Amino acid sequence: MAANGGIQIAGLAKSYGDVRAVRGIDVSIAPGETVALLGPNGAGKSTTIDMVLGLLDPDAGSVTVFGATPRDAVDRGSVGAMLQVGTLLRDLTARELVTMMASLYPRPLPVENVLGMTGVSSFADQRTQKLSGGQTQRVRFAVALVSNPELLVLDEPTAALDVEGRHAFWSTMREFVASGRTVLFATHYLEEADAFADRVVLMAHGTVVADGPPNEVKAMVGTRTIRATLPDVTAEELERLPGVNSAARRGEAVELSCADSDRALRALLDTYPAARDIEVAGAALEDAFLRLTSAEEAVA
Ligand SMILES: Nc1ncnc2c1ncn2[C@@H]1O[C@H](COP(=O)(O)OP(=O)(O)OP(=O)(O)O)[C@@H](O)[C@H]1O
Ligand SMILES: [Mg+2]
Repeated sequence: MAANGGIQIAGLAKSYGDVRAVRGIDVSIAPGETVALLGPNGAGKSTTIDMVLGLLDPDAGSVTVFGATPRDAVDRGSVGAMLQVGTLLRDLTARELVTMMASLYPRPLPVENVLGMTGVSSFADQRTQKLSGGQTQRVRFAVALVSNPELLVLDEPTAALDVEGRHAFWSTMREFVASGRTVLFATHYLEEADAFADRVVLMAHGTVVADGPPNEVKAMVGTRTIRATLPDVTAEELERLPGVNSAARRGEAVELSCADSDRALRALLDTYPAARDIEVAGAALEDAFLRLTSAEEAVA
């Protein structure tokens, strides 16, 4: 990859008073890549995104976007953004707003196409202050796309959308990235990152705790938990089973966090036939974040 290609984040740091929101992170995103920024509340995702967009100045480190400063890249129309918070200009219809935004850029997409792609057409003549949360979100997506940007930066783009809205959103995104565009999006949902991103950057407490293809990150955080009643076996013994990341005991019950729950379950039953009341569940991601984060803090 050329040194000036894509997005280069180096030693990036930002504090708000005593809160070290972003603590010196390095992330490099190649042109055409779709990267999910995953992490719990307060991890530093929005702070990072705001610096990538030039809305916030770093305390240390740097961001370059296609070889330029974030502000220059945004001014050129190379970047489309959807922020986590923000309202739409009032007293315009959705169509008027998107048309106005299109007029600010040198190579906009046709407005009607964008309204169609983003599911806005059916309410395009309503004024923006009359829209529902999900409709507002769709209009914000339309505003982000209409400049025909090379890079899309989206902070929790599906947060206010219903199931159908999410589905429509990601299918539009698939079309958009098929044309070689670069995407950086923040989310709380591992499933969303897994389904859509080429790569997952997992943040917690202002640091990057994992960076890799979704499968690798999923394996690290442990995608499933096995619970069983099994007295007289220690957590340490259970942690040695293949497919198990970590194990904990709660009274008669044990809880295994698994990178590969199929392997782990087979091994559990082979090794400890007395195990009973077995349940397999999707892991609580928050637990996985906490585990990875406390490991990180122990090292720091
Ligand atoms: N303007 C601000 N002033 C003071 N503290 C802030 C400000 N913005 C963010 N913070 C703090 O910085 C930390 C990181 O916040 P940030 O918004 O980047 O997290 P996030 O990963 O986007 O979280 P969420 O998932 O809730 O959107 C948090 O501890 C937050 O309280
Ligand atoms: Mg945020």
